[in-house]
Amino acid sequence: MENKKQDTASALKDIISHAKEYGFVFPSSEIYDGLQAVYDYGQNGVELKNNLKMVWWKAMTMLNDNVVGIDASIFMHPLTWKASGHVDSFNDPMIDNKDSKKRYRADTLLEDRAAQYEAEGQAEVGKALLQKMAKALDAGDLEAVRQIIIDENITCPVSNTANWTEVRQFNLMFSTQVGAVSEDASLIYLRPETAQGIFVNFLNVQKTGRMKVPFGIAQIGKAFRNEIVARNFIFRMREFEQMEMQFFVRPGTEMEWYAAWKEVRMKFHQAIGLPASKLKYHDHEKLAHYANAAVDIEYEFPFGFKEMEGIHSRTDFDLKAHQDLSRKKQQYFDPEINENYIPYVIETSVGADRLFLAILCNAYTEEIVGDGDQQKQRIYLNLHPAIAPIKVAVLPLVKKDGLAEKAQEINRSLKFAFNTTYDEGGAIGKRYTRQDLIGTPYCVVIDYQTMEDDTVTVRDRNTMSQERISIADLKEKLGYAVSMERIFEKLLV
Ligand code: GAP
Repeated sequence: MENKKQDTASALKDIISHAKEYGFVFPSSEIYDGLQAVYDYGQNGVELKNNLKMVWWKAMTMLNDNVVGIDASIFMHPLTWKASGHVDSFNDPMIDNKDSKKRYRADTLLEDRAAQYEAEGQAEVGKALLQKMAKALDAGDLEAVRQIIIDENITCPVSNTANWTEVRQFNLMFSTQVGAVSEDASLIYLRPETAQGIFVNFLNVQKTGRMKVPFGIAQIGKAFRNEIVARNFIFRMREFEQMEMQFFVRPGTEMEWYAAWKEVRMKFHQAIGLPASKLKYHDHEKLAHYANAAVDIEYEFPFGFKEMEGIHSRTDFDLKAHQDLSRKKQQYFDPEINENYIPYVIETSVGADRLFLAILCNAYTEEIVGDGDQQKQRIYLNLHPAIAPIKVAVLPLVKKDGLAEKAQEINRSLKFAFNTTYDEGGAIGKRYTRQDLIGTPYCVVIDYQTMEDDTVTVRDRNTMSQERISIADLKEKLGYAVSMERIFEKLLV
């Protein structure tokens, strides 16, 4: 078997069309030509995404005795965003090309140039460029950022000119009005991160759960950002989902916990099937307004290594800011040292959609099977069985002679334990292919021998090999093979 090499643009294009054709991801409101940077998950996509969310949720709350979950609202009191710094600082620097009228993020133009230097073996030059940019951005010197773009001779890919506007800051929060009568209505934001819902509930959870520092609060939910440039499919969306965990620690211990969570999170991505060679850490050059240390876990997407998860040491910035603005104490009494303090926070934050995209890119496999004239291309999704949308397809070899009824009976007995599908339409080879394309790890085939000895064949998606096993053993054998337990076992070693 041989895997086909592809250039990166066509690799992403193939993945996008596969996602659409097999019910994973559709453009939003497609009949009206879609809405930029907004997507819908289809029948297979929602199963895969739910599985990713569930495995993250359980890895956080079930495997850690000191991590609990919440589900806060998307709307929050507008002062939340004043305290968090998002009203004043949640900006991206944008720049327009006057000839093409295309808009870009100034920092992304420079990051792409730095990546180009790195690819050409001049990593140091790239690093120096990023440092120069970070210095200019930290100083709020947007003219300097523009000058770096000019000095680097960066041109617009559409017009090929360097006819740039000045660089301006653009706030990424979406706002709307709450209240029925326009005079009484007040400005409210769609949350740009789920983290603040955790911070404002810190004391509620700590007190009602009798939590002792160190402890964590996890949450999964929608976030919204008016991204200047939305590209690369579901990588950068305007409506997306985050899986965040804030871990509250004693001040002074944050770097130990930062290092510990960095490792735990890297292990998680490998346990769900992403290869170590396609994952790396990337320390931030420019720290967010709330962080004293930050690292990304990057995955090698078809368009290069890009951020999938952020791990931040957020100090006591958020709790302190909420305490100051709300005038409600956000302190914790630590009985071990007999002291009151505002805890420091380590945050892990991964986008559910970005993780989905990484998993899909990694799973998408094209290979040539067969020899000589019999050679043909096979496409399948090499998903970890525990996160595959459907775990088992039950297929009667033929519909007649009681085989279909027997297969339906087996399907009924398995469907309480995991997601199954029953398919009796068409040649068996075609039915295998249908399942390969959506990543179903196992096909159970009911044939004439089944009617004699109550055994079935189980076909493995990746190897296409078949094993004969007794119906009585099916549930247990397949149950373990498709269980999340297999992932959790890897996390605990
Ligand atoms: N609470 C911290 C925070 O929000 P972030 O680095 O801005 O930090 C965390 O976002 C994660 O959320 C990112 O690593 C990414 O996976 C995801 N994310 C951020 N913006 C996104 C977008 N526009 N579309 C999809 N995912 C996004």
